[in-house]
Amino acid sequence: IHMARHLITLEASGQSFPCDAGDTVLRAALRAGIAFPYECSSGGCGSCQFERVSGDLEELWPQAPGLTPRARERGRQLACQTVPRGDCTLRVRLKPDCQPSLRPTRRRATLVSRTRLTADMAEFSFRAGEPADFLPGQYALLDLPGVAGARAYSMSNLPNDEGLWQFVIKQIGAGRGGMALFEFLQPGDTIGLDAPYGMAHLRLGNDRDIVCVGGGSGISPLLSILAAAARAPELASRRLLLFYGGRTPADLCAPALLARDEALARRVECVTAISDPAYAGAWEGQRGFVHQVLQGWLESAGDASGYDYYFCGPPPMTDALQRLLMLEKRVPTAQLHFDRFV
Ligand code: FES
Repeated sequence: IHMARHLITLEASGQSFPCDAGDTVLRAALRAGIAFPYECSSGGCGSCQFERVSGDLEELWPQAPGLTPRARERGRQLACQTVPRGDCTLRVRLKPDCQPSLRPTRRRATLVSRTRLTADMAEFSFRAGEPADFLPGQYALLDLPGVAGARAYSMSNLPNDEGLWQFVIKQIGAGRGGMALFEFLQPGDTIGLDAPYGMAHLRLGNDRDIVCVGGGSGISPLLSILAAAARAPELASRRLLLFYGGRTPADLCAPALLARDEALARRVECVTAISDPAYAGAWEGQRGFVHQVLQGWLESAGDASGYDYYFCGPPPMTDALQRLLMLEKRVPTAQLHFDRFV
């Protein structure tokens, strides 16, 4: 329907950029290299809010949780859930951190394999015609057959020239993207893959040790970050730690994923935890939620500000980690790397 190319203008700077058919305001801005604020690209976090100055805009998901009723009343909209219907002018406060170092592009990708990791998680491998350019820790927006709207998934592999994109994905419920990915999609089928997105990528250029924290499919970007860190010559003397949690031991796919990569197996110290208090089987690891296990470890680890933190998981986990690290431990925000998803 949106076949025309529209021009979006930013009020403050007068800067203009084109928006292609099917692109949201956010995707068009990032493709143009503009530092438009965002995190999730999925309507959940609210960081991409802007105000319409003029022009006709269509909201793709009017009930998106990222916008409070109050912000809505004040005329705010979510750039990741809005497409222009003509030329338009917006008011937004740009965020230098969000300036894309690699501009996202769209491509088609073919499912090569789907490997079961646990009862509800699998590793998906897709191949595209051009190199897979992204920073370890970033995510892609996948257009799946029969699913309205794109879904965000973090890459688990390293950037590569072979065009290989891998993701550890958890099947959540029967709806959403899960059915398409786990039931309908077959090797040889193609999907739309738009990438790279996200700010929670590996940062080099300091000498702090690295602490990764995650649960479930939150292991996906952490694997990529750790694989890159384990291979980076400038990080050869740094400690690489992974705190990984699940409900029961059967949910913990991280140790097996680390073991299959020699560099990861050698470099990463992995602490696993299970959260189901009723689990009565054999278990020698930690118990509790992964942020609690990290908290306990930090008690004996000295200054919490001596580490860079990367985390990925459901909102209750990221909220708890923010409280612990920012409020309690006073770790500078520049050392915390995560993207808030719904
Ligand atoms: Fe739009 Fe998160 S980036 S709501």
